[in-house]
Amino acid sequence: MTFAGQWIGESRDNGKGVLNAGSARVSLRTKGIVAFVILVLYVVLAGSMLAQQRGTLRDTVEQQRDLYAVEEALARVNSTLAYAILNVNEAYSNPRSRANADTIALDIEAIQAGLRGFEERYPAIRPWIGRLDGNIARVRSDWGSASLVDLRESFHELVAQLDAVTSEVRNRQHALSENFRVVYDSITIISLVMGLIGVVVFGSVVMLFFSRLVWDVRKLQTRALEVVSGYRGRPIDVTRHDELGSLMESVNGMQSELRERERQLEIARQQRFHNDKMAAIGSLAAAIAHEVNNPIAAITGVAEAIHETQNSSACPRRGCRPELILEQTRRISQITRQLAEMTAPYSPEPQLLDLNALVRGTCGFVRYDKRFRNIDFNLDLDPQLPAIKAIADHLTQVLMNLLINAADATEEIVDRKPTINVTTAMNGEEVVLLVADNGCGMVTQTLARAFDEAFTTKPPGKGSGLGLFMCRSLIETEGGRITLDSAPGQGTQASVRLQRPAPRE
Ligand SMILES: Nc1ncnc2c1ncn2[C@@H]1O[C@H](COP(=O)(O)OP(=O)(O)OP(=O)(O)O)[C@@H](O)[C@H]1O
Ligand SMILES: [Mg+2]
Repeated sequence: MTFAGQWIGESRDNGKGVLNAGSARVSLRTKGIVAFVILVLYVVLAGSMLAQQRGTLRDTVEQQRDLYAVEEALARVNSTLAYAILNVNEAYSNPRSRANADTIALDIEAIQAGLRGFEERYPAIRPWIGRLDGNIARVRSDWGSASLVDLRESFHELVAQLDAVTSEVRNRQHALSENFRVVYDSITIISLVMGLIGVVVFGSVVMLFFSRLVWDVRKLQTRALEVVSGYRGRPIDVTRHDELGSLMESVNGMQSELRERERQLEIARQQRFHNDKMAAIGSLAAAIAHEVNNPIAAITGVAEAIHETQNSSACPRRGCRPELILEQTRRISQITRQLAEMTAPYSPEPQLLDLNALVRGTCGFVRYDKRFRNIDFNLDLDPQLPAIKAIADHLTQVLMNLLINAADATEEIVDRKPTINVTTAMNGEEVVLLVADNGCGMVTQTLARAFDEAFTTKPPGKGSGLGLFMCRSLIETEGGRITLDSAPGQGTQASVRLQRPAPRE
């Protein structure tokens, strides 16, 4: 499976910059749909506001049209009244003329037709129309100068009333024109403002969205290139909850996975290097042991013969000490045996092993190193210690690293005898191995970083800073824990805790 294929869509907890599985995800498609819906709603809102204003405008125009019709009707009635007044004057000067009476009758009909509907619309003129109707009836029943004068009077009064109505209509027309202007202006303003808000707000949101998107894509691209060229530092801060956010998490995941794999490779490389070195020493040691064993066997034979003859009374060299030769040859044999044990072929599988024997062997072996020459070794090994299941070579490496650190720490002390105490014990279900020294100890900052990869306070060539880092990795492989207790000038104690195997194992 490819890296990308492995991580796309997964949510993993790899420290900073990774969203947890619970965070709500909104895809870019959903964001697009939401933006579109908001835009449509906005357009609908603006449209409905404009439609409402347009309705008001249409009503105003209708009312204006109505008022123009009223004004026209008023003008018609007014001119009929003017003619009627003239005709009444004519009839007044010649009351016996039948033609004048007919003309006035026609005028009255035209006036009454023209006034139809006004009474209802303008109730204020109702009394004047009533009076006119009364005078018309009088003229019809009692044709003469007096009734004509009254009729003319009614006509004049009605003209005055209709003038008042006309001026009211004009005022109303003026108000409607003003209202038309205000509504028209508000339509213009609403269109402009809504359009402007739409363009500015929506444009800014779109611009912001895309510039952030482009920025995040660039960030991702840069980080992907950095990861390819070896960057393994801080992961990207994932601030998005969409497809791009998932991609960022994937790159973070890829980065941490690569880091972990490289760490494993480095450990494997160190392991291989160590094994190769030990194998080379092993074959050399085996060859030396073989070559040394032959002369030792011969020397032992001679010494034993001397020892036997010395016990007989005929021996001319009574008093010489052949057991000293025997003791020294035993020591040489022990050394070659330890060499062979230490360099035994590496078994990659965990085995049941005796931790005490491993400690004895390793401590016995490192004593030949000149760094340990002036150091007092105290072994306090629990004889009841149960067997543990582990890869022997891992534990040997850990113990050697801890012993070498302890030796380095005691190198410069002058006021006390350099001492290393190695203890094994049971603690509940755990088997504990302690390596304590009375060396220089560590300050808090050093103690906090002692297990870090490549952290060292030693000069170049003496320390690489991988010792404790590898110890922790190896012990964790064995399912155990390693911790340090230290104080400046007080020495250091390293504690390794391993699980005792279950009884059936
Ligand atoms: N017993 C100790 N006493 C005092 N300081 C210690 C002890 N063990 C470790 N340290 C400190 O921790 C550091 C890291 O130890 P570590 O074993 O990881 O690396 P190193 O000993 O410096 O180098 P390397 O083990 O790779 O040769 C050391 O440089 C030293 O400062
Ligand atoms: Mg070390």
